[in-house]
Amino acid sequence: MKLWGGRFSKETDSLVNDFNASIQFDFRLCREDIQGSIAHARMLADCGVITREDREKIIAGLEGLWTDIEAGRVEFTAENEDIHMNIEALLTERIGEAGKRLHTARSRNDQVAVDLRLYLRREIGEITAQILDLQQAVLELADQHQNTVMPGYTHLQRAQPISFAHHLLAYGEMLRRDVTRLQDCKERMNWCPLGSGALAGTTYPIDRWQTARLLGFDGPCSNSLDGVSDRDYAVELLSALSVLMMHLSRFSEEIILWCSWEFKFIELDDAYSTGSSIMPQKKNPDVAELVRGKTGRVYGDLMSLLTVMKGIPLAYNKDMQEDKEPVFDAVDTVKMCLPVFTGMLSTLRVLPENMRRAAGSGFINATDCADYLTKKGLPFRDAYTTTGKLVSRCGELGKLLEELTLEELREISPLFEEDVYGALRLETCMEQRGSWGGPAAGETGRQIAELGQFIHEYRARTANIIGSIRGEGKI
Ligand code: ARG
Repeated sequence: MKLWGGRFSKETDSLVNDFNASIQFDFRLCREDIQGSIAHARMLADCGVITREDREKIIAGLEGLWTDIEAGRVEFTAENEDIHMNIEALLTERIGEAGKRLHTARSRNDQVAVDLRLYLRREIGEITAQILDLQQAVLELADQHQNTVMPGYTHLQRAQPISFAHHLLAYGEMLRRDVTRLQDCKERMNWCPLGSGALAGTTYPIDRWQTARLLGFDGPCSNSLDGVSDRDYAVELLSALSVLMMHLSRFSEEIILWCSWEFKFIELDDAYSTGSSIMPQKKNPDVAELVRGKTGRVYGDLMSLLTVMKGIPLAYNKDMQEDKEPVFDAVDTVKMCLPVFTGMLSTLRVLPENMRRAAGSGFINATDCADYLTKKGLPFRDAYTTTGKLVSRCGELGKLLEELTLEELREISPLFEEDVYGALRLETCMEQRGSWGGPAAGETGRQIAELGQFIHEYRARTANIIGSIRGEGKI
């Protein structure tokens, strides 16, 4: 009979049984379910709701169950619907009467809510650690390429000279925001719904602060209806993961472009490329393409969850069981993408001469030419027009700006002098861009140092997150 079978006179239809069950995916919450139950049992005993003997039996039973689950000796069944009832049934089978007392002052509604928060809090720690690894790879590559000139683009048209380091460090910044977004999300998530009961709290003299503390939360959720109904933290997490994937997808797109024959700025390592079944010459950037493609999955997961949540009245509704698969899918996808992306980035070969060659055409020093005239006293707008005329003259002569003779330059403006050639060198143009955040080596050096400091600081914090969860609840 079902744990909830008391008022029923018929067995559940087998189709309904399978339809209703969530054990096929929520088995993943078993560690957290046991952790939450241990904290609950401790609190119940301390508050005098169950005896110390029952508490000892429950905790020993749950710990034994966890050992067996980890060793693969336990099978869950759809007959018991979900992870919560599977664990309770298995516990009762093992320890008898005491097992039946565990569910006092608790509902599956607050149980699932606490399990999911615990689970996602841990995943945030692991994902953060993976992002930090990627940032480290970005930092190391940037460090080697502070003087590697490449064209910076707007509209995918060559625009102004930058260094490869400068380009990479832009991703360093995006990933920095991703890390802090996840930490913000974790902060709002870190409130404990356990003790909200089904929706209206409980008549037992429980101590919600104790369970919250035992489970490493900052405190109990303030309103019991909200405690069981809230999935904002999962929406926030999926939204943070969507932004992260958006960044990885843009980075992937650039890697795909850079290793095309049209650019040839980089070459991917053989271990991170794939071949074609028919074209023997091919070396394809499948990893980057898959990361770009999987971004769609994570956006889809976010949309699914938002849509599940949008029309349901307070408090718990079974619709909310549909929260788990998108959440698990997004977490799995991100955790699969990050390390493979890091591997791809840290093994790729940079081809600086091709970047330099691309930077050499396309008049990416035209702004610098206008700036040269401006520094000689011409208002910028006039300098801009004069340089435009020069570019058009270059078109007629088939020359670059720096290939025009001083006479040709002076035909357009008498302000040009011999020093213009130095000013138009791409290396000079880049090095002169020493404004805060710019590509000059002094500035990329500062950005690298800051990123290194950030990685160092957050590695320490992540170690705490993972450590504190392991340390709590005796698991
Ligand atoms: N398996 C359920 C879920 O994931 C657990 C909560 C069930 N609560 C209930 N009142 N039926 O949402």
